[in-house]
Order: sequence, then C-alpha cells, then structure tokens
Amino acid sequence: MCGIVGYIGNNTEQTIIDKLKKLEYRGYDSAGIAVMNKTGYRVFKSKGEIKNLEKVVEVSKDSKIGIGHTRWATHGKPTEENAHPHVSEDNRWALVHNGIIENYLELKDKLMASGMNFYSQTDSETIAKLLQYYDGKDKLTTIEKTLNNLKGSYALAILNEDINGIFFAKNKSPLFVALNNGKALLASDIICFNGFATEYYVIEDGEYGFTDGKKLIVKNRLGIVGKSPCAFDCSVENVENVYDHFMIKEIFDTEKALKSNLEYYSVEDNLKKLSALNIKNYDKVVFIGCGTAYNACLVGAKFFREQLDIDCFTDVASEFRYSHPKLDDKTLVILVSQSGETADTLAALELAKENKSTTIGVVNVEYSTIAKNVDITLPIKAGVEVAVASTKAYSCQIITMYIASLVLKATLNKTKADLKEVSAFCDNFSFGKLEKYQEIADTLRYQNKIFMIGRGLDCCTAYEASLKIKETCYINSDTYFAGELKHGFLALIDEMTYVVVFATQKEVVAKTLSNAEEAYSRGAKIILFTSLDDMDKAFMDKCSFIVKVKDVNCGLQAITNIVPWQFIAYYTSVSKGINPDRPRNLAKSVTVE
Ligand code: M6R
Repeated sequence: MCGIVGYIGNNTEQTIIDKLKKLEYRGYDSAGIAVMNKTGYRVFKSKGEIKNLEKVVEVSKDSKIGIGHTRWATHGKPTEENAHPHVSEDNRWALVHNGIIENYLELKDKLMASGMNFYSQTDSETIAKLLQYYDGKDKLTTIEKTLNNLKGSYALAILNEDINGIFFAKNKSPLFVALNNGKALLASDIICFNGFATEYYVIEDGEYGFTDGKKLIVKNRLGIVGKSPCAFDCSVENVENVYDHFMIKEIFDTEKALKSNLEYYSVEDNLKKLSALNIKNYDKVVFIGCGTAYNACLVGAKFFREQLDIDCFTDVASEFRYSHPKLDDKTLVILVSQSGETADTLAALELAKENKSTTIGVVNVEYSTIAKNVDITLPIKAGVEVAVASTKAYSCQIITMYIASLVLKATLNKTKADLKEVSAFCDNFSFGKLEKYQEIADTLRYQNKIFMIGRGLDCCTAYEASLKIKETCYINSDTYFAGELKHGFLALIDEMTYVVVFATQKEVVAKTLSNAEEAYSRGAKIILFTSLDDMDKAFMDKCSFIVKVKDVNCGLQAITNIVPWQFIAYYTSVSKGINPDRPRNLAKSVTVE
C-alpha cells in the first residue's frame, strides 16, 4: 500500500504527479509532494485522490528534484497532517514512505525525550525525526544509522536540503530506480518507467543509497553493491481504457486473458519447470492467498484433489504463519497473488522457504517479489489489472491452476497434458445475458444484506461473488455452505432477505435446492443461479430471478459462474454512485500485514 516516487529532471511537479497517478492503485486516501529548488524544498499535500493534489501544487521553474506519495492510511486518519511527505523538525529532511515501522512508538518516545515534537499520528514521521537526530556530515551514514533503528517494512525516498539528489532505502516494500541522461526516477512500481527509460534497477531488501541522476550508489551492510540493470518491458503499461471504469473493461478482458493463458501454457517450454515436478514426492499441497486470490485457492485445491488424489489444504495468508503449519520438503506450497506483492502472502512464502517446501507462485505481475522468489512461477497472463476489485485475474488464476493440475497428472502418467477441454472452454466462452445482470443489480442496489449459498465448487463461487458485492457495492453479503442454513443462519431470514442460490453441481443440486426451500419457506426471496436444464419446475416458479449459465461440465465452470456476479457487482456499484475502481478504504496492492 502507498506508492512512492522520486524524480530528478525538468517539469518536476507535473512528472511526479503523473507518476503518482500510475501508483494510485496502491492507495488514494491522500497525496503529497516535496520539491526542491534554490531556496530549499516546498511541500504540497491534499486529502483524497491525486486530482485534489494537482489543484494545490504550485509549479516552480527552478524545481529539479522532488518526491511524491499516494497514501493508503495505516497509522493516523487520512488527513492532510498525516499525508506524506513528512519532514524533520529542522525542516532539513523530507521523506515519503511505503510500509510500516513496527517499533515507531518506542522510537517516538525516545525522540520526544530528546526534545523533539511530532505533528502527525504516522509511523513515517518518526523516520524524518530520526534523520535529524543522526544528522552528520556524511548523509549516507545518517541514513544508515537511521535505518539501523527501524523494525518493519519500508521503501523510502528522502530529500536533504543541502544535497542535490535523492536518498533511498528498501526493506520488504518494492522500490525500483531508473536513470536516463542525468535524470532519475524512483518508484514503487516499474509501470512508472514507461516512456522514461528502457532499463531499471531493482533495489533489494537491506539496500540503501543515493542518486543525483548521473550516478547511482547502492549499499548494504557489507558495503557498496554492484547493480546490473533489467530491461524494461513496455507491454506492462498496456492499460488503455475506453470504458467508463477499469472494472468493466477488465471483466470484458476476461475472454482475451483466458485465451492468452491457454496460448502460453500450450507452449511446452513454458511448462518445463512444472512438468519436472513429481507430485508423488509430496504428501500435501497447501494453497495460500488473500481475498480473491484466497477464493481462487479454494477452487485450485479442489482441482488438485480431484486430479492428483493428494491432500490439499487452503489458508488465508494472514492466518497461515500463526497456525503452526506443518511444512517440510514434502510440502508443495502454492501462493496465489495477482500483484505478487501482498505482504501476508510474501510472509507465507518466506515461511515455506525456511521449511524447505517447494513453492509455486500463481501470479499476474511477472516482475513481482513473489514471482522472483518462488521455485516455479506460473504466470496467469491476465494483463494489467487496475481496478481494486479483482475480476479477470480470478478467472486466470483458476484456469492456471486447472492446467497445472492436468500437467502434473500427465507427468505422473509420463504423457503430455491434454488441453482440448480447456481449449473448447476458451473457444465457447460467453459473458451471458448482460440485461439480466442489470435487472438483478437494479434490485440489489436497495438491499443492505444478502446471502449466498452453495455446495462444493458453488460455495467457492459464492464466496467470491460475495466479496465482489461487499467491496464494490457496500452491501453486506454473507456466504454459507447450503447445508449449514439450519445450523444457525436461518434465524437471519425474513421477508426482506434475498438469498442467492448457486446450483451448478449436479451431484449436490437436489440437496442445495432443499436448503433453498428451507430459506424460501421462511420468507426469503430466491435468486437462482444454475447451469442445469432439468431443474424442478415448482421450485423455479418460486424464484424471483433465475440466471442460467452454460454447463461447462468441468472445473472451469467456476469461471463461467463468477463472471455474471462480476457484472452484477459492477452494475450495482455504478447504480449506487460508487466508483467501482476505487472503493472506499481499499487499495489494489496490500503491502502491509
Ligand atoms: O494481489 P493479490 O492477489 O495478492 O491481492 C489479494 C487481495 O488483496 C485482493 O484479491 C483483494 O481481495 C481484492 N480487492 C479483491 O477484489
């Protein structure tokens, strides 16, 4: 969360603002910049989105160096006071920070005891005050001493009034630097380098340094670090949007994304590492993710269990580390993450590696920390996903895990995976009847709470559909295993309640419908979601809405089932006047634990 930028070059203020806009997916609670000119640095801040900051920034012809920040609030409310950049008391240092300083209260006490005053509730201000505390002639030594005090995660871009350049440091939050002809750009995401440079440097954990645009000094605790540049792939920036919102664009992207995925995994070379893995060497598979990625794990675990007859477990990443998981070299850990930067998932990866488990990353961002650090990366090929609500990435995570399960099964039988079924699925992919989704949205927009039920794969869809409705429509949507209704949930049902019934799994459909009847008899209004033709006519007559989707007849049904709910969530969100791309209190990339 939070995006940081540092820039040395002309047109400083506007460049920083433009780059911050690209990082706004990381948080949009407040924004700010600090820009140096001959008389020192000037700070501008505003609450809310970057467009508010743009209105207050005064451009100066003398500016050449600056830093910027877009915030997702952790410590302290999203006020101007808590917005970055934060400054030292003597105003000689200004910094922007992405991450969390876990021991900031202890540091704050120490600094206050030394006579310093604090103006914000943030952990980040502590770093600015520490820089003043350790200030000396050699500024890199000041930085080093400051960093030695910090526990937690940080990507920092720092200005000092006397120095023509930008200091930086990184631990567990992403940071990249690019140089171009005397200009420099530091950023939380390489998408900022589009149009600026063709190469960039990855700053690793424990590294810190300085750039003035001509040279780049990078150090760690052992001394100077030699850095080799990485080539910048311009395709990462392909985020043109002709739709009203990224969310709807990205839902419509699904078809193309699934086809790109299949195309990628149809190339044998891309399966080399996965096919070299013998599932018989493992006694269990653990699937880890957060939010939508976790919901995809629920589906992935079903595929692996069915295809490979192996014990599969799922856990949300934030719980995993503290649940004393039994991990060893016979455990295969699959980490699912769109961004590849989610802090909880990264922590789970660290634990898996410490325990010598084999790790697979199912990721969208191929240059991300998870992608770089797992044993095997399985890119999901969804293309850039901008909207906070994950849509096409979920579908691509599912197809990737489905293909992976087929490949591992084929490896066991010493054959090649047969992807014909996947290919037929992609060829016949359909978004269904959009008018129907709009109709349901027109009803749901007036609800405060709804319930979703299903069994097996249908319950996985219900979890993900509920998450979409919650985050984009601010409706409390709750999910239950259909069989659980009578164990408590029925007490919540009244005439005002809508219950969405997912019934696409033949072997359990009769039981699911009985559960739906239990809710109906207590006054609930039913929205039936099915792929099956031979549904009980009497029951169908009781439903307020029926959504009929294609019967896919394989695990990829999970994709067919979720897409309508992505549309419904989008239409409901828009009709309620919510910006579905930037729901309140959320961010796209969650880099704090
Ligand atoms: O980047 P990741 O896939 O690791 O992100 C995980 C969750 O933060 C993410 O899926 C979140 O739940 C989305 N807002 C869901 O739409």
